[in-house]
Amino acid sequence: MSQPPAPPVIAIDGPSASGKGTVAQLVAQKLGYHYLDSGALYRIVALAGSKQGISWNEEAALADMAKDLDIRFENGEIFLNGENVSAEVRTEEMSRGASEVAVHPQVRRALLDLQRSFRKTPGLVADGRDMGSVIFPDAETKIFLTASAEVRAERRYKQLMEKGNHANLDDILKDLQLRDARDRERKVAPLQQCEDAALLDTDHLTIAQAVQSVLDSHAAH
Ligand code: DC
Repeated sequence: MSQPPAPPVIAIDGPSASGKGTVAQLVAQKLGYHYLDSGALYRIVALAGSKQGISWNEEAALADMAKDLDIRFENGEIFLNGENVSAEVRTEEMSRGASEVAVHPQVRRALLDLQRSFRKTPGLVADGRDMGSVIFPDAETKIFLTASAEVRAERRYKQLMEKGNHANLDDILKDLQLRDARDRERKVAPLQQCEDAALLDTDHLTIAQAVQSVLDSHAAH
């Protein structure tokens, strides 16, 4: 008997703070698809490492730990071993930690099956750095969603200010550029636009326009 076709996947990759998470969630909502925030998994590994006294450069220990983590996503909230860690994983410190633990091949391998398990009917929208290249290379729709570092830094700055956090635009920009370089230059699954991914530059687009553009690309398949 032939296997039923795998549920469709929309892979949205791009650099930090490009807005891909917001766009991916809205696309998933519109289509009634599941949603995978793969960056959250690397953030959780960084956070769990901190909690367990494992440094972000201890590849084997982090990978061992990552295999056994109890991670749940529920109504937009993230739970680690039953504890709601949604706010904790979003700090600037965990952004840096995620980018550091994500360079380790063993850590990436430990998260592979978990990420693929999100592919369920009627479909999945997955955002990250290697969704189209490594995790779901057969995705129907692949988007590389980006914006200039300056625009991304300004968006992040506004977000932090709105939440009442202290922020410095120059520091945010420098931090973003550092993370971009680390994500692009790492040996395994670097941030890159796949040959078969459509480029979506959101410098001059509203969120609604970016969402529509992804929906149009998906409908064209
Ligand atoms: O998307 P994000 O900003 O939450 O991701 C945090 C870090 O995790 C990012 O700096 C790189 C890493 N990451 C990755 O290497 N591969 C993914 N698929 C998603 C995120």
